[in-house]
Amino acid sequence: MPLARINLTALRHNFLALAERVAPKHVLAVVKWDAYGHGLAACVRVLDQAGAWGFGVSSPAEGIALRKSGVTKPILVMTDWVGKPIRHLLDYDLACAATSWYKVEYLESVSKQLGAPISTHLKFDTGLGRVGIHCSQYDSTLREVAKLKHLRLDAIYSHLAYGGPQHRERGLEQIRLFNDIIRFAQSVGVSPPITHLANSAAALALPEVPGTLVRTGIALYGQPPSPSVAGLLPLEPVMTLSAPILNARRIKKGHGFPAPHFYRAPFDGWGIEIDLGFSAGYPRSIVGHAKILYRGTRFPLVGVMSRDRSYALVTGDKPEPGEEVVFWGKQKESSLYLYELSPLIDALPYELTTWLSPKVPREFSD
Ligand SMILES: Cc1ncc(COP(=O)(O)O)c(C=O)c1O
Repeated sequence: MPLARINLTALRHNFLALAERVAPKHVLAVVKWDAYGHGLAACVRVLDQAGAWGFGVSSPAEGIALRKSGVTKPILVMTDWVGKPIRHLLDYDLACAATSWYKVEYLESVSKQLGAPISTHLKFDTGLGRVGIHCSQYDSTLREVAKLKHLRLDAIYSHLAYGGPQHRERGLEQIRLFNDIIRFAQSVGVSPPITHLANSAAALALPEVPGTLVRTGIALYGQPPSPSVAGLLPLEPVMTLSAPILNARRIKKGHGFPAPHFYRAPFDGWGIEIDLGFSAGYPRSIVGHAKILYRGTRFPLVGVMSRDRSYALVTGDKPEPGEEVVFWGKQKESSLYLYELSPLIDALPYELTTWLSPKVPREFSD
């Protein structure tokens, strides 16, 4: 059976290292989608105790779950929603992202109607081109925002298209624009106490990024978002995905494995059958490209993957059934990072832990 071990000590270590790196900015810990697949409740408990300023979630439902678990710090619902969760935003004191003028007007009118101000983080699109009020409209928007009387504008923010040093110029352009927006806001009397712009990559590599907060997700989980920012801060993978060896057999160079018509072994070794297949959420298409960790060394994942089996070719003393194979994370002193695996199938590091089936048991260790 595959197992996802969640190392909460590593989570705490990563948080503290990041918090120190970005101080005096505070850390809004992004725990969307079950803490990127790591387990919301356990991760939030650790991040809360370690000093996170607040939490970014992907839906009102996740925010409510956090409040019910006893979190008293700010919670920002970062993702747009439709439907009628507005009552929940108030009842559970959740802050809401306002990513369009439509949303601003809606939050203003509901705050008025209910006689209760909704905490609002106003988002501008400064160049990522995804969501937010377009930067070409920031002056007219902020003049209108200055007239609002009912919602509570707690923050202005934006999202960087910054993935690392190769995007530095673009990042700096967005920073200039964001600073212009904040200055203009102040000039028309809109001065929310909070501003935020940085994601993990910028928090790691762009010290000039402005804001009272950084919004970091993937780095907290010990995963650099790209090779270009790897190594800037010693991050420990929080999740290790492993499975035991079921069988091992001698494979001579040139022999097919796991069957004659499959992959031809380029060296003498041991063909191992591993108790993890695509039903765990590990992508089958990565076979033939990815490495696994065995006895702390990288070996190729080969041949084929079925619903609940995979295969690798290893060397050394005869492998024993039950020995551990790591698909990502840490084994002995070696780490296999998501950014090493995801490009092999044109995916993002973010996708891999999110794909992991909820049926794979999570084992938490403090
Ligand atoms: C608006 C926003 N900010 C910050 C983050 C966190 O990004 P990262 O995990 O790269 O730190 C996300 C991730 O989903 C996001 O959507």
